[in-house]
Amino acid sequence: YENIKYEVSEGIGYVTINRPKALNALNMDVLTDLYAAFTEIEADETVKAVIVTGEGKAFVAGADIAQMSQLNALEGREMMIMGHKVMNLIEAVEKPVIAAVNGFALGGGCELAMACDIRIASEKAKFAQPEVGLGIIPGFGGTQRLARLVGKGMAKYMIMTAEMISAAEAYRIGLVEKVAAPEELMDEAVKVAKTIASKAPIAIATAKSAINNGFDMDMKSASKFEIETFTAAFGSEDKTEGMAAFLEKRAPEFKNK
Ligand code: CAA
Repeated sequence: YENIKYEVSEGIGYVTINRPKALNALNMDVLTDLYAAFTEIEADETVKAVIVTGEGKAFVAGADIAQMSQLNALEGREMMIMGHKVMNLIEAVEKPVIAAVNGFALGGGCELAMACDIRIASEKAKFAQPEVGLGIIPGFGGTQRLARLVGKGMAKYMIMTAEMISAAEAYRIGLVEKVAAPEELMDEAVKVAKTIASKAPIAIATAKSAINNGFDMDMKSASKFEIETFTAAFGSEDKTEGMAAFLEKRAPEFKNK
């Protein structure tokens, strides 16, 4: 990959957006690399959890404004469709994805963090949806995911004012799940990734799917969906192993089967 770094170590996939000179702004090339990397991650059984972060002082400072300034409405639409494809893939991939937000998470950067399952922010991180100041609105799913995460009122406040908020404020409103000292951010993300990776992979994938898909359904349909996804996990070999290990007072050995 030219615009991201991707490596796997001890079952954890590390995706680092690597355009530090442009504060990791997402242009079409970065989006294409991200899509390819998550396609690879989806197919790789050795990857149990993923951490997404940014090289240098930013997580991602948004979609690339220099590139967008050259696009007409139809071309801009194409770029946003690509952004949605990437975010939807990250959200749907059957593995836990953790955003380790090391710095600016603005516009498309905040949207990338929101497409991940869990967000851990450095105390130095800053969040905003600054699009209205550029004459546009969030276009990688921000109007939808932000409202779902922090509620309609706070989403409107952030999107309409374009105000930049601190990690502490992001934590207060439920936009991030944890805040860590800058030097401890990656350790904290790895700790969470390893905790999740130690559980039954089918159960983790099933829980992710039940929460994500159920969130968009009415309660009755969501309950039915939970029963179906629960049954899939209940039929797994890892259910037999997990329960046997508990009863035999030993650690389980999950096989992702
Ligand atoms: N697109 C393209 N280039 C960007 C960029 C972006 N989103 N953000 C930063 N850069 C570039 C700057 O142009 C600058 O390049 P040069 O060195 O060639 O001049 C370089 O990165 C460093 O940035 P600054 O000099 O501005 O750094 P700073 O520390 O003074 O400011 C900042 C940091 C406050 C994050 C500022 O860069 C900024 O406001 N960036 C834009 C943030 C933004 O508006 N993002 C939303 C984009 S729209 C969007 O994302 C739409 C969508 O929903 C998909």
